[in-house]
Amino acid sequence: MKVGYFQFNPKFLDIDHNLNKIEDMISGSDTELLVLPEFFNSGYAFNSIDEVKSAAESIPNGRTTDFLINIAKKENMYITAGLPETDNDQYYNSSVLVGPKGYIGKYRKVHLFYKEKLFFKRGNLGYPIFNIEDVKVGMLICFDWFFPEAMRALALNGAQIILHPTNLVMSYYQEASKVRALENRVFIVLSNRFGDEGDYHFTGRSQIVDPQGKILINSGENIEEIRSIEIDPKLACNKKLNEFNDLFMDI
Ligand code: ACM
Repeated sequence: MKVGYFQFNPKFLDIDHNLNKIEDMISGSDTELLVLPEFFNSGYAFNSIDEVKSAAESIPNGRTTDFLINIAKKENMYITAGLPETDNDQYYNSSVLVGPKGYIGKYRKVHLFYKEKLFFKRGNLGYPIFNIEDVKVGMLICFDWFFPEAMRALALNGAQIILHPTNLVMSYYQEASKVRALENRVFIVLSNRFGDEGDYHFTGRSQIVDPQGKILINSGENIEEIRSIEIDPKLACNKKLNEFNDLFMDI
């Protein structure tokens, strides 16, 4: 399965611009499963609930999810992307998974970072697992990485690939993701943004890590880039370290 990410610098509250950028970059890509950053359509640095309201959408049946479904059909690919969601006058920092047959599912960020707590509700959907053909995947969003039990829950429920949209303002996770992948024996597709917005500087360096904790591909800090690599998701089913130790049986 060819998995990839698109690292770019979204324009704050310019959804037209950000969706057009995605359409241009993805067109003709042979990636089968692509991850876009957290809040890829809106940008990150919300200053008021009115700004959040102006950008938030239903998932599914919102403009951005419909747009992603159309691209997924046209390009015959699966896409995970982060966006602000509205549901019953509440707001969530969410990610959506779509594919060639349409909407598959969503995840709502559980661990809200810093001023996200002013505007968004804590995720209330748990850590769902989705099937992409015969591969099990799960989603996390940015700061969730700091809480090891989040990825552990996904891995224990069978996730082979962690789809991880981020807007990282620190650069710990580009290092820590090697340990998260190793301890859970999963692939991680970390799709970060770059650039500056408000008081935030985003750290780029998107990467794909394998179940041995090895970085397969990555990007620089300030570059717009779509990158992908062929992986064998079955490697994530083997939790054995040696003939006596199985990382999940030994817990
Ligand atoms: C973050 O969770 N966006 C740092």
